[in-house]
Amino acid sequence: MPSSPVSDHWDPHSEAVQRDQRHAYDRMREQCPVAHSAAQGWTVFRHTDIQHILHAPETFSNVVSRHLSVPNGMDPPQHAAFRQLIEPYFGMARVRAFEPECRRIARQLLAPIAESDTVEIMDAFARPFAARVQCAFLGWPEETAPALATWTLANQAATLQQDREVLSQLAAEFEGLVQDALERRRRQDLSGQDTTSELMRETVEGRPLDDAEIASILRNWTVGEIGTISTSVGILLHALSEHGHLQEQLRNQPDRIADAIEEVLRWHGPLVDNRRISLKPVTLDEQQLDAGERITINWVAANRDPEVFTAPETLDIDRDQSANLLWGAGIHVCPGAPLAQMELRVVLEEFLHHTSNIALEPGEAPEMAHYPASGFSRLPVRLGRQ
Ligand code: HEM
Repeated sequence: MPSSPVSDHWDPHSEAVQRDQRHAYDRMREQCPVAHSAAQGWTVFRHTDIQHILHAPETFSNVVSRHLSVPNGMDPPQHAAFRQLIEPYFGMARVRAFEPECRRIARQLLAPIAESDTVEIMDAFARPFAARVQCAFLGWPEETAPALATWTLANQAATLQQDREVLSQLAAEFEGLVQDALERRRRQDLSGQDTTSELMRETVEGRPLDDAEIASILRNWTVGEIGTISTSVGILLHALSEHGHLQEQLRNQPDRIADAIEEVLRWHGPLVDNRRISLKPVTLDEQQLDAGERITINWVAANRDPEVFTAPETLDIDRDQSANLLWGAGIHVCPGAPLAQMELRVVLEEFLHHTSNIALEPGEAPEMAHYPASGFSRLPVRLGRQ
C-alpha cells in the first residue's frame, strides 16, 4: 500500500471525460502523464511509460484481483503455461477456416439493414454480430447470442459503477452458462466437435484443466471479443462515415482495409485501459510509486502520443504501425488479434460491398459510450443502396 496519502490529479468518471474521452486523455498525457485518482490509483498515459510497464512483468504484475483470470490475471512462470495452451486457438489456419462463417453472419445481419434508409448500427449490427460470431467460435448455439450480448452490457455497467457485488453475480452467471455447455458435452459426448469440447480435453502442467479454468478462459475470450469487436465496428463505420475520402479509397482498394483498421483503431482506441500492480517501488515520469500500488495503462492516450506518432489526429493508412499498441505488447499481447482482424475486415468488406454510401444520419448525432466502454453507445447512419 502507498506509504503516504496522495492527492488526486483527476477523476476518470468526471463529466469532461465522459463527454469526450479521447481528448480528455490527450490532455492528461500532456499535463499530468502519471496521474492519481481515488478510483483507480495511478493512471499512465504516455507511450514510453506504458511500453516500459508492458516489458517489465517482474515489476508490474497482472495479478490484480483475487479471482482466477486465465491467462490475463497471471504472471510468469504460470502465465506461460496457460498462454501456450490458448495460442493455437487463434492460429492463422483456424482463423481462415472460420472466415466463411463470419461472413455468413455479417451478410445475414446486413441483409435487412441494407434495405432500410437509417439504421442504429450498434443495436442492429455491431452487438448482435459480435455475440453471434463469438457463439459460433465457441461452438455454442446461436440462441445463446442475445444472452451473451446482454451479459456483456451488464458487465460493462457494473464495471462502470464499480459494483463488486453485481460483478461477482455476473461472473457466477457466466460460470452457469459455461457449466451448462460443459455438462451438455459430457452427457452427449460431443468430444472433438467444437472449440469448447477441444478445450475440455486440454492439459496444463501434466493435468487436465478444471472447470473453473475452462470457465475463466471462455469468459476472457467472450469479454475480450464481444466488447471490443462491437465497439470497433462502431468506431470503424463512424470513421468511414465522417471521412468520405477514406471510404472512397477503400471502395476502390479493398486490399487496404486491413491497414485502415489498424490506423482507425489507433486514432480512436476501442479498449480504454488494463490494470497492473507494482511489485516493488518504482519511479514513473518523476512520480514515486510504492510496492503494491494499483496502476492503469491507458491505451487510448498512448496511441495518440505525438512523441511517437507524427500528427496523431490525422488518419493516415500509410503510417508505420510498428509502435501501435492496439493489441498491447510484451507477454500479454492480444492472442485474439488475428481473429479480431479477420472479423473486422469481413465487416468492412461486406458493408462496402452491399452499400453505395455510408453517412452519418443528419438529424441524429451519435452518442459516445461512457468509460469504461469506448466508441459509441448509439450510432445512427444512413446507408445508400447499391
Ligand atoms: C478489437 C479487438 C481487440 C482488441 C483491441 C484487443 C486488445 C487487447 C490488448 C490491448 C490486450 C493486452 C492486455 C494487457 O496487456 O493487459 C489483450 C489481451 C488479451 N486479449 Fe484481446 N483484443 C481484442 C480482441 C480479442 C479477441 C477477439 C479475443 C479472443 C477471442 C481476445 C483475447 C484476449 C486475451 C485472452 C488476452 C490476454 C492475453 C494474456 O494475458 O496473455 N482479444 N487484448
